[in-house]
Amino acid sequence: MSAAVIESRSPQAPGELILSCPAVDRRGVAGAFVAAREAAAAWQLSPASERADALTSAAATVAANADELCDLVVREVGKPVVEARGEIARAVSILRFHAQAALLGDGETHPTLPPMAGDAIVMSRRRPRGVAGLITPWNFPIAIPLWKAAPALAYGNAVVLKPSPQATATALRVAEMMGEHLPTDVFTVLPGDRETGEALVAEADVLSFTGSTLVGRAVTRAAAERGITIQCEMGGCNASIVLPDADVESAARNIVASAMGYAGQKCTATSRIIVVGNPVPLTEALAAAVDTLTTGDPADPFTVVGPVISEAARERVLAAAHDGGRVIRGGTATETDGYFVAPTLVDSLGPDALLVREEVFGPVAAILSAPDRNQAVALNASVPHGLVTSVFTADLDAALWFAAQLRTGMIRINQPTSGVDFHAPFGGEGSSSYGPREQGLAARELYTATHTISVAPPAGAHAGGQSRRG
Ligand code: UN1
Repeated sequence: MSAAVIESRSPQAPGELILSCPAVDRRGVAGAFVAAREAAAAWQLSPASERADALTSAAATVAANADELCDLVVREVGKPVVEARGEIARAVSILRFHAQAALLGDGETHPTLPPMAGDAIVMSRRRPRGVAGLITPWNFPIAIPLWKAAPALAYGNAVVLKPSPQATATALRVAEMMGEHLPTDVFTVLPGDRETGEALVAEADVLSFTGSTLVGRAVTRAAAERGITIQCEMGGCNASIVLPDADVESAARNIVASAMGYAGQKCTATSRIIVVGNPVPLTEALAAAVDTLTTGDPADPFTVVGPVISEAARERVLAAAHDGGRVIRGGTATETDGYFVAPTLVDSLGPDALLVREEVFGPVAAILSAPDRNQAVALNASVPHGLVTSVFTADLDAALWFAAQLRTGMIRINQPTSGVDFHAPFGGEGSSSYGPREQGLAARELYTATHTISVAPPAGAHAGGQSRRG
């Protein structure tokens, strides 16, 4: 039987083949893990300063090749060039951050119990887990692989990454750049499909996954069977809540940016806009903000809304746009070769409409009304996902009240839902996430195991406190 083939095509010009290569099969994955395990054994013994230097140099290489990488990201996943440039800058910062994190203390000391108190040392040390298996999506084809790989490497693990087939060319180029600064087999990319992913899940010592809820749940079950630690990021159905005292124009600009930027293809995108009180002024401001957006060629620096990733994605977005309700803007596929959809605003939807229940992953948002704050909180929580919620208000008390009430992993006051800080923990509640948070220093929870080590003086040397007195 011939090997399955991975094909990556440009979503703005599906005739353009970016990459075609064989998917790595089970034997190939097993072989990659044998090599990665050997490499991990040496890497974890390397001085922290060496790991920090490697990540710092890798950051410099990514920065030096930013134009080439940016061009590849634009062509392979249709990300508008300004956002692609921002993602690469973020990836450079992420590598630098985790280079420094490698140099932090790797544990703590703790109080001891009698009779050893004073004589014994109890410490806990963070140890790498071995080989981290990473499964990543196409929508942040550089930042997500690196925000998983950088902490894994910093703390002494090797990494085996299976990228989304639709972002394989970018992942392979990133691997080349990382490989310039890392020992052989410490960072491996395996182009692949479902079989490759399943084999990786069967081999990894620790797993990090970003993708759909369906696949994330399956991967979690497989990890639990094997008793390994896992973290999953599985999407959002995020709300922006707008209070009556908010600056309407500014709220509308922020919301439209997070709903429509990169055609809404971020797990942090806003897809539900919850207006407390009279929805008319905000609805008008949102429509006006949508009218200013440039849709089209992602290589054009003025473009905000590029294509969606595939024909299936376009159909799903259009179905969600016409699932009852009133289409205020958009709702149509635009007339080109690529998978373009006009940025779409809908209101008057029923409670069962797709857009108000599920992640659609396109340039489409629903406007919903809530009579008061409590109803806004209830509406926010009416979906299984709980990744990020924005609140727009000039009232600090109201902002803090919402921050205390909302059951979402990230709460942003007067800011768009998308565009998160890489220094801070990232993750959600409900079906958005599973396991420890990623990013920032929180990533250490996943990529290290804590060993508690108690050291007592040798027999005969221990005499409680008396040896010092007498
Ligand atoms: C961002 O909004 O800055 O897959 C990042 C995703 C998220 C990343 C969002 N894990 O879209």
